[in-house]
Amino acid sequence: MTSVRASVDAAFYKAAPEFFAENSSIALTYDDVSLATLYSEVLPRDANLETALAESLRLQIPLISADMDTVTESRMAIAMALSGGLGLIHYNMPERQQLSEVSRVKNHVHGLIQEPIKVSPDQLIGDVLHRIEEKRFSFSTFPVVDDQGRLLGLLPGHVLKHRYAAKKVSEAMTPRGLLQTLRDDELGADPIARADRFFTEHMGIHKLLVVDREDRLRGLFTLSDVERITQEHRAQLKPARDSKFRLVCGAAVSATRSSTGELDKERIGAHVGALVERGVDVVAVSTAHGHSKGVGETVRLIRELFPALPIIAGNVTSGAGVEYLAECGADVIKVGQGPGSICTTRVVAGVGIPQLTALYVASRAAAAKGVRIIADGGVTKSGDIVKALTLADAVICGGLFAGCPEAPGQIMEINGKLYKQYRGMGSLAAMQAGSAARYGHSKNDATRKVAAEGVEALKEVSASLDTVLTQLVGGIQSGMGYVGAATLPTLREKARYIRVTPAGQRESGTHDVIEVKTGNNSGT
Ligand code: XMP
Repeated sequence: MTSVRASVDAAFYKAAPEFFAENSSIALTYDDVSLATLYSEVLPRDANLETALAESLRLQIPLISADMDTVTESRMAIAMALSGGLGLIHYNMPERQQLSEVSRVKNHVHGLIQEPIKVSPDQLIGDVLHRIEEKRFSFSTFPVVDDQGRLLGLLPGHVLKHRYAAKKVSEAMTPRGLLQTLRDDELGADPIARADRFFTEHMGIHKLLVVDREDRLRGLFTLSDVERITQEHRAQLKPARDSKFRLVCGAAVSATRSSTGELDKERIGAHVGALVERGVDVVAVSTAHGHSKGVGETVRLIRELFPALPIIAGNVTSGAGVEYLAECGADVIKVGQGPGSICTTRVVAGVGIPQLTALYVASRAAAAKGVRIIADGGVTKSGDIVKALTLADAVICGGLFAGCPEAPGQIMEINGKLYKQYRGMGSLAAMQAGSAARYGHSKNDATRKVAAEGVEALKEVSASLDTVLTQLVGGIQSGMGYVGAATLPTLREKARYIRVTPAGQRESGTHDVIEVKTGNNSGT
């Protein structure tokens, strides 16, 4: 028999189908609702955040960095994957450049300095000293290589003295025969663990040089980097990797049209083919209006050409949109039209649905079609992510990551504060740089007057991505602890919602105090 307390709870705190049906005439977003706390045996730190977007694409945390030109290039994608998430490399750059950005992520060996500063045997010690001063290097050990890149020796820091300035590097270096090295094909699936073992076995050695079969230098590990990484890894998030132990990486592709306005099938096929060759784990057909012929045809084409490749497509905010893209062959559908912090779609075009209602509607169609959904845009705090994850399999963030050092773009100082550029892909500047197709315009339109659907903005520079992610993950795990959910599927099952009034929203934030230290969770 249901207890009185349980039936009172059930009358106020409703499961998604009942709650959204009761609110079907109004569109709700994150701040409009709160989640009820439920009996819990889950400690936040034990909450598991794994999510599978496709059979071959599993993430340790359900967070994805947006395919925007001020958010995700290889540096951001590497940092996202190292923390267990995924980066989608944007396509506002020449195709060749996007391919090499993907390669950088797929070839990244954590901790291995792939382009170490080298010296040549004929250089004078005086020249090396001059270079150290000029470039302000904080290290003083240099591999010595010939003009083919083959390893000849190691120049140790203790010979870098002005009294030896006139001597040649070849006279001062430790020769190749005395160096302990590893071959790149001996690094195995976990290069950091291999390097760690090497340093334990070779007492006193602080630099591990990695060479290939021809003895060409491939990179170096330093003892201090390896120690820092192994300590961090014990405490922190696990990387998201593919079946070959490489970091995962996604890339945006566009529904490109030829000069006659037809979908450029050849070009799209060649682009995706080249990405697959580089090892991309997922492609994202990212557009402002995913429930449209061109996007559907693009997804269908990619599905036909690459049956095993996971495809993300969007954006939509309706059940029919989810069904359409699922039937065209997408595995994961992006949900969100106009919630983004730099978006003006709702203002300019008068369309779009507040995010939580859009997610609920999309989630029903996704469940019926057996596809996943991602909540894209409008997230400003970890509580929003928890709410999004009660309906979606993962969340895409742009603004939350755009201030991190890992995001592309220069830092600028204004009135003593540091900022980075953050712009909508539908802003005029971004469309002129190449993203016009995403908003249904041709490249030439973008140079004429078209209605922009995004703004150019600034974000205050924030802490590094791993600090921001640690804060966000801590918040998600807290939310799961309150709901008594040890996994994301359980969170989706157990979530109970209630509407919040503007007074309730005011109560949710800090109030009636003078804040002396911000407790915001973006690490800023
Ligand atoms: P946040 O809120 O995380 O949003 O900054 C990032 C998401 O916003 C979308 N996006 C745009 N939407 N006009 C729009 O209407 C734009 O110019 C624009 N640029 C990006 C995109 O889905 C992204 O992931």
